[in-house]
Amino acid sequence: MHSIFSRINNVSALFSSCMMGLLVAISLSSFLLTAEPKGHLAISSVKVYPSKAPRYPRRKQEMAFVNFNVTADLTPLFNWNTKQLFVSLEAEYENTQGVKNEIVIWDRIVRSKDDAFIRIVGKNKYAFREISSTFKKIPSAHYALKYNVMPYVGLLTYGEAARTEEPVEFHIETRV
Ligand SMILES: *[C@@H]1O[C@H](CO)[C@@H](O)[C@H](O)[C@H]1NC(C)=O
Repeated sequence: MHSIFSRINNVSALFSSCMMGLLVAISLSSFLLTAEPKGHLAISSVKVYPSKAPRYPRRKQEMAFVNFNVTADLTPLFNWNTKQLFVSLEAEYENTQGVKNEIVIWDRIVRSKDDAFIRIVGKNKYAFREISSTFKKIPSAHYALKYNVMPYVGLLTYGEAARTEEPVEFHIETRV
């Protein structure tokens, strides 16, 4: 009896160490298989319209509408340890208090290599508001296409595939 139990014990210990070793190898391989895809991002217009704050209908808060054109081939990010990608388009600007804001205006989850070629001409999916209620004192913002790689094993990795070269101005429109 004793010997059977100790044998099972030894075998399962060996099995666990093999599994551990394999998982470590897989997660390390992700560091070696890093790809840095580069794409192209153009912002065709950023228009700011007067609007009402959500949940506070009497409070005014401006909303910005961003038209963009983005192309990026993210297929190199798919290797055997890639589960999915989280892709987002973010606006970055400093507000009047000097605080750096990063606002996600569009995103997408890419689950397969076949969908990893991003080619979109569109507008922001999420409301783009400034907390101080107006964009008047914020002259411009930068925009960037960012990605998160979610692996099967190991750590999330982050990257940036495209960024506007020049800051893009906010155009304040007075009427809707
Ligand atoms: C979007 O960008 C791509 C690549 O830069 C370009 O070929 C295409 O004509 C652009 N489309 C529009 C509608 O601006």
